[in-house]
Amino acid sequence: MLTSFRHLVSASQVTRPDADFLMERSAEMEKNIYESVDVLRGKILASLFYEPSTRTRFSFEAAMRRLGGQVLTADGFQFSSLIKGESIEDNTIVMAGYADVIAMRHPQNGSAKQAADALELHCQRTGCHVPFINAGDGNNEHPTQALLDLYTIQKECGRLEGLHVALTGDLLNGRTVHSLAHLLSAYEGTRFTFASPEQLKMPEHVLDELRAKDIPFQEFDALEPVIAADVLYMTRVQKERFKQPEEYERLKHSFVLKAADLGDKKPVIMHPLPRVGELATDVDLLPNAAYFRQAQNGVPVRMAILATLLGK
Ligand code: CP
Repeated sequence: MLTSFRHLVSASQVTRPDADFLMERSAEMEKNIYESVDVLRGKILASLFYEPSTRTRFSFEAAMRRLGGQVLTADGFQFSSLIKGESIEDNTIVMAGYADVIAMRHPQNGSAKQAADALELHCQRTGCHVPFINAGDGNNEHPTQALLDLYTIQKECGRLEGLHVALTGDLLNGRTVHSLAHLLSAYEGTRFTFASPEQLKMPEHVLDELRAKDIPFQEFDALEPVIAADVLYMTRVQKERFKQPEEYERLKHSFVLKAADLGDKKPVIMHPLPRVGELATDVDLLPNAAYFRQAQNGVPVRMAILATLLGK
């Protein structure tokens, strides 16, 4: 194996050497993006998206095609036998018979681990080798997004050490920030500020991990104190995770960043996207607005992940 993990379910599996290796590999992929057509020729990606996606799904599929591979795609429960009551485990094992690698997004927390555990047992029994990749499970984790976020930070800031990173918005439900906090905590001198409405604070298990590693962090319920960070990472309030629609309506525009709010500060502005009002379009004109570059980085980073997990 080229990384310490066979399946990628959680950012907590990614060691510092794994991250360094994948950052280097992603840079190589980006440099040779039009010359990588043979790396995964003959291989098939099962791209299983049981929750909406634009960036993750299409960048995975573009990555596989750039590497010369092919894609089987499922878009929504309604076109899958999951809608008839098939278990995640059975669905994953069956798809492993049709594809060489599986990327799955599912609305349920823990679904990625369920799928990967079942697949690993199946592979041990049958000798198959089909890596599983978590493309986002509920409000839990999104490890490939965190890797492309790390790659973006390295490119935009020129380093990963000694950074002040502000994670803002819906930190309770934003799976990307949970995975990113873990990855960044491996780099010397990282410090965080978290800004969110009181009801959408970073979960305790993430804060506990930072405390255990002696990573400094502060929490705020406003955006103003965090705009002086090196990286200002915005997230949307996640409507689909709210049980009470009125609670979402009350919180959805708690934090809105406009270009004028930044004054003379020039943080690298990131957002996993989609944005739904929390990031004004006048910010797009700033040279430090990195979110569209960040989305584009999804292709070389996922090329690196696919090639690596397939042992190429
Ligand atoms: N960043 C991200 O996960 O976007 P999608 O939901 O469009 O895949």
